Amino acid sequence: MRIDIITVLPELLKSPFEASILKRAIEANLVEIHFHNLRDYTTDNYKSIDDTQFGGGAGMVMMVEPIDKCISNLKLQRNYDEVIYMTPDGETLNQSIANQMSLKGNIIILCGHYKGVDQRVRDHLITREISIGDFVLSGGELAAAVLCDAIIRLIPGVLGNETSALTDSFQDNLLAPPIYTKPREYKGWKVPELLFSGNLPKIEKWREDKAYERTKERRPDLLED
Ligand code: ADE
Repeated sequence: MRIDIITVLPELLKSPFEASILKRAIEANLVEIHFHNLRDYTTDNYKSIDDTQFGGGAGMVMMVEPIDKCISNLKLQRNYDEVIYMTPDGETLNQSIANQMSLKGNIIILCGHYKGVDQRVRDHLITREISIGDFVLSGGELAAAVLCDAIIRLIPGVLGNETSALTDSFQDNLLAPPIYTKPREYKGWKVPELLFSGNLPKIEKWREDKAYERTKERRPDLLED
């Protein structure tokens, strides 16, 4: 998989890809991440990427031309499955979207700033708009990092134990059950006895019950559909 990220702040985005699972995925050639600085596609001496709103109003708007130049240049080199715009008014990211995206070959992610981008970018260049939640960040970069993390860990081979992504919360619309490790008892806090029984079907049933209970209590909305 190849992800091209268009941003005015590449430095804000680099570190998540330089540690842990994402770093290993890149080193193992399971994913390629490329950053494109929008200022490299500007046409004036000031390297402007934004301007005031037509019709008046507070806040700057990212201009269509540098974004179009950058995306067109990428599209000349390869086909893209999706051109995603990170924006608080997009569809809210969930595990199902992450699953779908992890199956794609090449995607572009555009990070917004200021008031956002000229609507013509959204109408003509973007294929999908994604939000990471009902709150406003100062730019799309951190949202793009969140999306990339959610996608990349699902690419086969990225996680050591292939089954571990399958048992994540949300994969079956349920939250994950409680988990325990050594020691068996700490300060009198005990691990449920059943987990030492060696009775795998019983343990599996206990985990399913706990996952269901936890979901019912914390996220009843997940059980609705
Ligand atoms: N840009 C600013 N806020 C955002 C959000 N919540 N999700 C995605 N992109 C954003």
